[in-house]
Amino acid sequence: MRMKMNAISALSLLVLGAALTISAGAQTDNGVPHLRKQGAATQLIVDGKPFLALAGELTNNAATSLPMMEPIWPRLVAANLNTVLVGVSWAQFEPEEGNFNYAQVDGVIAKARENNLHIVFLWFGSWKNGTSSFAPYWVKKDYTRFPRIQIGDGKTVSISGPIELLSTLGDATRDADAAAFAALMRHIKEVDGARHTVVMMQVENEVGVLRDSRDRSPAANRAFAGPVPAELMKYLEAHKDTLIPEFREVWAANGYKSSGTWEEVFGPGKPADLKIPIQTQSPPMSADEHEVSWRQLHWPSDEIFMAWNYARFVEKVVHEGKASYDIPMYVNGWLQQPNHAWPGTYPSGGPLPQVHDIWRAGAPDVDILAPDLYLPYFDQVCERFSRNGNPLFIPETGTDAANVIMAVGKHNTIGFSPFGIDGNRPIPSELAAAYEMLNNMAPIILAHQGTDTLTAVRMVQGDPPKQVKLGNYTMTFTYTGRITRLAPQAKGGVEASPPPPRQPGAQAEGPLPPLEAAAVVISTGPDEYYFGGGGMRVDFTPNTPGPPNVGLGVVQTGKFVDGKWELTRWIEGDDDAQGEILVLNPGTIVRVQLYRVP
Ligand code: DGJ
Repeated sequence: MRMKMNAISALSLLVLGAALTISAGAQTDNGVPHLRKQGAATQLIVDGKPFLALAGELTNNAATSLPMMEPIWPRLVAANLNTVLVGVSWAQFEPEEGNFNYAQVDGVIAKARENNLHIVFLWFGSWKNGTSSFAPYWVKKDYTRFPRIQIGDGKTVSISGPIELLSTLGDATRDADAAAFAALMRHIKEVDGARHTVVMMQVENEVGVLRDSRDRSPAANRAFAGPVPAELMKYLEAHKDTLIPEFREVWAANGYKSSGTWEEVFGPGKPADLKIPIQTQSPPMSADEHEVSWRQLHWPSDEIFMAWNYARFVEKVVHEGKASYDIPMYVNGWLQQPNHAWPGTYPSGGPLPQVHDIWRAGAPDVDILAPDLYLPYFDQVCERFSRNGNPLFIPETGTDAANVIMAVGKHNTIGFSPFGIDGNRPIPSELAAAYEMLNNMAPIILAHQGTDTLTAVRMVQGDPPKQVKLGNYTMTFTYTGRITRLAPQAKGGVEASPPPPRQPGAQAEGPLPPLEAAAVVISTGPDEYYFGGGGMRVDFTPNTPGPPNVGLGVVQTGKFVDGKWELTRWIEGDDDAQGEILVLNPGTIVRVQLYRVP
């Protein structure tokens, strides 16, 4: 009983601490969504409280008609989403210049409220996946007022026909886009300024030049031959010591020049007549180059030049939008990849890690530079997108449940959002279970985010045991898959324990065993931990002076109800190998209190 009280009081303290901060914040912000730093993390604050967006992104046009969405809403709710990312097409929103159609946005907001969901709207304005397919008809038709880019061979970007890409250098395009976005934000403020269903905005989608490393229109060539703008140079000088290393290397290689043309300051661009292959597989790259090339700049001045021009354009759009309604706004990047390592094979100039400094300099009103994260190097990409205080939000990714656990516990993400959540494939039950668990743990996770009391661990079948130091103990994690009991083995575990093979013909019990296991770990007191998720066993070694042996004092599975821990099962006897072995299971929250003896 005493231990239960301890647990409750530890959590109450956290909740109380949070409540104090909240009431202070709530008085000043009226609950309007905004970002707030907490230690190393940046959190999304909605209605005065930190909010974890366990989200999904709809396919591009899913919400362009409300009836089409009817069967989708219950699926999102059943999969435990609390947020949905919904595209707003500029073409549909402003079919004639200055005439705005709010019906779709209003309908989506109403349905989201009915289903207790929050919304992040995606402004599909001048660019969507590099191209300009969501621009209104009146923009597409007028190529004089709304100029297009040109690529190496003098053509506009096209895969199978005249699909055009608006130029960043079209002031009329920028102003029209900004005016439409400002109207959208004005309207969202009117209908949602007090309710806060809409928590963030994505501005444009995966901007950048495709099929060449930069715009080669006459206007772009003139700008490229001219000096790097003084405001950019000033920013780089002022942030010289903290620039993203791969970018700083490029500037350093050219002698940290403080002025000059783009090529003088950042090195040569790609010759116009050098064709970009669709894929940069090795060969022509060597295998070694292939390994590292997706984290480096190639023809740096081209990508840097484009990043600056996209950033300046987007800054205007974001600035006008925020003047109407100031909620967090982010841009998303189509990532450079091993087989798409050269700018132009991915959109050149998008908010990618190697040009984050350029985006920061050119678009100070943009709050978050976000990855569309389909690469297998999930944790590495999260780290690259968390440098220099960039808040992490993952607007597009796959449905891997281990990834959301890592993103939340290890990388302090604001949210996680698999793409195509309304698509034909069912939403995996592992993801739904992880969302349910994280949603339940969100207050305690968010109270610890950004501090050294929260982490997450991922293990893949076959991994050797992994040690993690958190609080007063070092934990050794050993992969178990979905099995719930293990024969006793030496403390500290020396080899990975694969799950037992399924008997031929045996009924599958629930989803297939995961090849990956992941758990959130929170140290809530000197001898207390909460774990969320699993597929791993844990052994504890003290890392403070005192008796060396560690016992499992209390082990419980449970959940939080109104901020209080409620037991679902007290674990002893067979379920923890008579107090010797703690096994964490996917989708399960465990509270553990430890003791030490000589
Ligand atoms: C990335 C884009 O941002 C999405 O809108 C969508 O087109 C997906 N790719 C398709 O996989």
